[in-house]
Amino acid sequence: MNEHSTRRDFLKLGIAGGVSAALAPALADSDRASGQDKRATSAVPFVAPPIERVRIGFVGVGGMGTVHVNNLVRIEGAEIRAVCDIVEEKVQRAQNIVEQAGLARPKGYSRGPRDFERMCHEEDLDLVYTATPWEWHVPVCVAAMTSGKHAATEIPVAYTLEDCWRLVETSERTRRYCIMMENCCYDRREMLILNLVRRGMLGEVLHAECGYLHDLRTIKFSTEGEGLWRRAHAMHRNGNLYPTHGLGPVAQCLDINRGDRFDYLVSMSGNSRGLRLYAAEHFPDDDPRRREQFVLGDVNVSLIRTVKGKTIYLAHNCDDPRPYSRINMVQGTRGIVSGYPDRIHVEGRSPKDQWEALESYREEFEHPLWRGELIRTATGGHGGMDVLEDTRLIAALRAGAPPDLDVYDAAAWSVVCALTERSVADRSRPIDFPDFTRGRWRTAMPLDIPTPQIEPRR
Ligand SMILES: NC(=O)c1ccc[n+]([C@@H]2O[C@H](COP(=O)([O-])OP(=O)(O)OC[C@H]3O[C@@H](n4cnc5c(N)ncnc54)[C@H](O)[C@@H]3O)[C@@H](O)[C@H]2O)c1
Repeated sequence: MNEHSTRRDFLKLGIAGGVSAALAPALADSDRASGQDKRATSAVPFVAPPIERVRIGFVGVGGMGTVHVNNLVRIEGAEIRAVCDIVEEKVQRAQNIVEQAGLARPKGYSRGPRDFERMCHEEDLDLVYTATPWEWHVPVCVAAMTSGKHAATEIPVAYTLEDCWRLVETSERTRRYCIMMENCCYDRREMLILNLVRRGMLGEVLHAECGYLHDLRTIKFSTEGEGLWRRAHAMHRNGNLYPTHGLGPVAQCLDINRGDRFDYLVSMSGNSRGLRLYAAEHFPDDDPRRREQFVLGDVNVSLIRTVKGKTIYLAHNCDDPRPYSRINMVQGTRGIVSGYPDRIHVEGRSPKDQWEALESYREEFEHPLWRGELIRTATGGHGGMDVLEDTRLIAALRAGAPPDLDVYDAAAWSVVCALTERSVADRSRPIDFPDFTRGRWRTAMPLDIPTPQIEPRR
């Protein structure tokens, strides 16, 4: 496949079938105004006008930022105009990626940790992306929105209650999107499950179980990349530090902020062991990492109840030996589906009391966005899901359609960090979720499945 056909394929994946959004049925403003459907596609009170070519400034081009840059240079209508990182060599690496893709070399910014502000001020951009360490997501997003750019950030969008509100209020005031790039919402299993839910295979959804269970000990102790910042959070925070990979896809199945919303949670953490044990077993006596103290419980478990009575079990563990899992379980009145391993039971279809392989439902229930060969066979980043999320974002901005994920999703899923910390610190006391939508969750439409089948150009 040559460069041009590749770029066209990405475009087609994004907006084939006109401007119809693939996760959310994006009614045009005119349709809404004419009363065809009184409900909004999301709780966002505005739809930004279409942008023909999306000019992007990228902040933080380490591991995940480089994945996005590699995707974006292949997406029709996306132009990386500026790159910012505190490490000059990383800026140059990203500039080279853009140039090697046959595009104009973006301007570099590497004059310290707040140089993204200069970038936002100087550059004519439509979108500022950030894949910086967690503590920089909010400053970058706020700088982007207040200088008139949309913001897209890696996860979580924020980890304090105040910062979640700050992003919601800044987005509403500036009428700029603030989008959290939760790639797991675009993964093949999660999209298949969403399709099963939408097509009623599980009946009424009652309960879900999810989590982020990933042995990150080696990464957390690395002397580069996430090792430079991620471990520090475990020294002063105790709760669920990374809720959105598991919770985001489940929240979509449960219509959170689109017909229902999170009501309250309780959270409990156990002992902190794994990081200290790892340091003791892997580093020499004089290595300062052996003397670090951690407060983060290795295993954190939380229960969330929605205002409409659905329940969610949410787990977090990144500090002990274990195979990777996000659990991905959804229970309804007619059946149950689960990941790790992928299996399903549907009353009246599956043998009584037995699981079936989820794979056997794929032909009938594969999400239309995953039927395209380009997505199924993508190899960069985390495979097709990262390509899909970047493509969907650019396509939505170009079409003037609401992006799949909005600032209320970002805030409601991310605030779990803060609320679990609060509950853990107070004997698992129930903590209320704020209603970031201020009531608009009642009238926002659930995410839906596109009608046109989307295939890449062959
Ligand atoms: N969605 C996913 O699957 C996924 C996977 C990995 C990481 N992430 C998220 O991506 C983000 C980055 O993680 P990573 O693994 O790429 O980490 P990383 O450490 O490899 O990259 C972070 C980059 O940000 C730069 N940086 C730090 N402070 C900065 C500042 N003030 N201004 C500009 N640049 C700055 C660093 O130099 C580095 O290049 C985190 O939010 C993480 O949670 C998401």
